[in-house]
Amino acid sequence: MQPDKLFSPFTINQFTLKNRIGVAPMTRMSSKADSVPRADVLEFLIRRARKGAAIVYTEAIVTDYESAQGYPGQARLLTQRQIDAWRPVVSAIQKEGAVAVMQMFHCGRMAWPEVNPAGRVIAPSPITPEQDNPLTGQPYTVPDEMSRFDIDHVIEGFVETARGAVEAGFDGIEIHGAHGYLICNFLSSYSNQRTDGYGGSVENRFRFAHEVIQAVRKVVPEDRLLTFRISNWGVADPHVSLFETKDEYQHLIRLLDREPIDAISVSTHGYSDKAFGTRQNMAQLTRAVTKLPLMICGKIYDRASADEALEDADIVLSAKSILLNPDWVEDIKAGKELRLHASAEANVAYTDEPLL
Ligand SMILES: Cc1cc2nc3c(=O)[nH]c(=O)nc-3n(C[C@H](O)[C@H](O)[C@H](O)COP(=O)(O)O)c2cc1C
Repeated sequence: MQPDKLFSPFTINQFTLKNRIGVAPMTRMSSKADSVPRADVLEFLIRRARKGAAIVYTEAIVTDYESAQGYPGQARLLTQRQIDAWRPVVSAIQKEGAVAVMQMFHCGRMAWPEVNPAGRVIAPSPITPEQDNPLTGQPYTVPDEMSRFDIDHVIEGFVETARGAVEAGFDGIEIHGAHGYLICNFLSSYSNQRTDGYGGSVENRFRFAHEVIQAVRKVVPEDRLLTFRISNWGVADPHVSLFETKDEYQHLIRLLDREPIDAISVSTHGYSDKAFGTRQNMAQLTRAVTKLPLMICGKIYDRASADEALEDADIVLSAKSILLNPDWVEDIKAGKELRLHASAEANVAYTDEPLL
């Protein structure tokens, strides 16, 4: 590996990142009825840019007013007011020399009907996760199997939200295809048991993601970034491997590779974990079948783990470490001894406590 790869620039599309470190997307659940995050939550993103992150992802923004929402207090980017709230945040991040990317998703079978204006849960198939919803202590609601109308409507939500992000000045948009939410529900046979053109073979399960990407790319100018996030795990039933084999996963990556996207972001439980019973980790399995720029995330917490993760990827993203330590990038640069944070520590993200 090149010396100090971590602090070397990296060019992706027309953007040159000043280093290889980014803020992973982090839901904060701070919005009120206007679906605009709290001021301190927005300020947090600007501060992370000021403190050295080269690329800053927003929390996952829900894509429609019907069935996309899975948690209370999530943000939207569909109205002029919401666009106006994000615009100064985006330009402040850019002034700090970082690239600003909006992540968007539909929660699919993870949606919680009570927080959705239309009170509805939709998914490729009427199957719930096995575990209860930790927010309600109740079983997840059995989703309605998505109709043709639902599919078109949901794609429109992704398109409209991308348009909102472009209007707000974001440098990039990420389609969240990971963690057991709607797009991931289609990709995985664990949640997709359709018998039409959207289920069955890997190509069919990929069709919905393909349609979302194609529709979104039309409204995302060529010179802005479009990235796609994928994972082999979901937030519910987290032990389940969402793709059955290495071949199935790599087949999906090959299909993604053909899409008009600028990077793939791989989210893992731990970047170095070996996957699918192989001796390779998720970044290695991904890199083997695509030349697209690759971001990796999961238990990257100090200089050694960041350097090692970068051996098989172009950019490292951090969630918990950069959430809890405003000086994380500088501490990494200084080679400071840092510790891995437990998941429970990150729950502060969901409180009213302003984070440094
Ligand atoms: C508070 C919190 C909120 C998160 N919200 C999102 C999200 O909105 N979208 C997403 O793709 N991942 C989300 N994640 C997952 C992280 O982006 C990341 O993949 C995961 O935490 C592993 O990275 P880490 O070990 O650096 O924490 C969240 C994680 C945390 C801790």
